[in-house]
Amino acid sequence: MNIAIIGSGTMGSGIAQVAATAGCAVKLFDLNQDALAKSKKALETTLSKLVEKEKIDADEKSRIQNSISYVNSLNDLSDSDLVIEAIVENLEVKRKVFSELETLVSENTILASNTSSLSIASIAASCKKPERVIGIHFFNPAPLMQLVEVIPAVQTSEEVLQKSVQIISDWKKVVAVAKDTPGFIVNRVARPFYSESLRIYEEGVADFATIDWALKTIGGFRMGPFELMDMIGHDVNYIVTATVFTAFYFDPKFKPSFTQKRLLEAGFLGRKSGRGFYDYCQELPVPKE
Ligand code: NAI
Repeated sequence: MNIAIIGSGTMGSGIAQVAATAGCAVKLFDLNQDALAKSKKALETTLSKLVEKEKIDADEKSRIQNSISYVNSLNDLSDSDLVIEAIVENLEVKRKVFSELETLVSENTILASNTSSLSIASIAASCKKPERVIGIHFFNPAPLMQLVEVIPAVQTSEEVLQKSVQIISDWKKVVAVAKDTPGFIVNRVARPFYSESLRIYEEGVADFATIDWALKTIGGFRMGPFELMDMIGHDVNYIVTATVFTAFYFDPKFKPSFTQKRLLEAGFLGRKSGRGFYDYCQELPVPKE
């Protein structure tokens, strides 16, 4: 099966790895050449670690790497059975990509968006054949997270829904079909997890490291909310909150945080930029002999 991924950032790279591991031929496209080079390098590092841990052998590593080609034109995606878009969380940009994409691929190609919060119906409406558009929402990091939400828009055909569920299940993921509503299931439930933590921090109830510690140690969460926001990226996380807030007619329970907005404006996007709530550039202390 030929899979195309548009956007080779955090999510696109992870989804490419998942599809290649499952035996698909993958084409990864990004407007930014550096992003493609970074993605290729990150895959090498990830797969090398898996070989070290004896989770895969060297042949499997080469097979996965050889299954992914890094392309620099949308035209290169014309022979795809399924295209998954994982670019910036901006409706107008996504709509433009979908309407262009539609003219390049075959009639039967499924066009999916990995959007966290935007309306699949609005994305589908940018296409002449909206019945083949669907949401396929992976979680970060895509190779490790089991759950994938599959979101049919009102326009999506039953056949496209069933095929999408089948493909994602074949990739050994657990599918939850969700209605096309802001944030779907997980991102809607998760909003108050971030927002309330930010409010507690802003009110000075505790510092962010203490809140993370409390939720992990006492609450049993694998990651604290601030660590998680740093991992997701404040650009992505803030925009998702703002989108859900707007889409729910400004319900105050989804109100975004100024603290997070300032981090985003400063370019402190989290792990990917080296600094968010935590500083990832600091050199670790060298252990004494
Ligand atoms: P990212 O910022 O890491 O990567 C986005 C990539 O898309 C960049 O490499 C950029 O150069 C590229 N790009 C932007 N516009 C483009 C265009 N018109 N054509 C081709 N490439 C383009 O973003 P990330 O985190 O991978 O998010 C991508 C999508 O996945 C967003 O819709 C986001 O909401 C969603 N998502 C993000 C999650 C996360 O934890 N980061 C989790 C689940 C979904």
